[in-house]
Amino acid sequence: MKRNEFTRRGGIRAVVAALFFAQTWLVASAALAQAAPVAVAARPGDPVRGKALYQGCESCHSLNENDVGPKHRGVVGRRAGSVADYAYSPALKSSGLTWDEATLNRWLVNPSALVPGTKMFFKIDDAQSRADLIAYLRAQK
Ligand code: HEC
Repeated sequence: MKRNEFTRRGGIRAVVAALFFAQTWLVASAALAQAAPVAVAARPGDPVRGKALYQGCESCHSLNENDVGPKHRGVVGRRAGSVADYAYSPALKSSGLTWDEATLNRWLVNPSALVPGTKMFFKIDDAQSRADLIAYLRAQK
């Protein structure tokens, strides 16, 4: 093998290895983000405060009509991505999640960390606010 061909092959191998490591790192950090603990509220959720906070969701959601996001009535206890006449992202539709307090808490802190590829980009940083919102949604049967 000629010297310069050897160097070229070595270079290609180095690039392939670098890409492999970069991909492994990305997959590992995505898995870590998904597994990271999410803060839970100290007090039980307050549905009255939740109703006021829900106004922030109403630019995209309502209880009874699909809008930018799916309708919310009955969402607690429902399978994710299961409103028949709403066009979900394939990611949410195939997530296999059921909406309970724990999954909604993870969802609201960062939808894309729970369901990579979702089309909801809206976060609630405060754990108590998430609990209040979930308490409100739970009451909307
Ligand atoms: C900027 C628009 C927007 C805002 C604001 C928004 N959402 Fe969403 N939401 C969406 C979209 C779009 C989807 C569908 C996601 C998908 O298909 O991947 C969604 C989906 C959801 C789902 C899943 C429902 C199901 O049927 O599986 C829940 C729960 C939810 N949103 C809760 C909330 C709550 C609670 C708030 C307010 C704190 C909120 N969203 C604010 C756009 C929004």
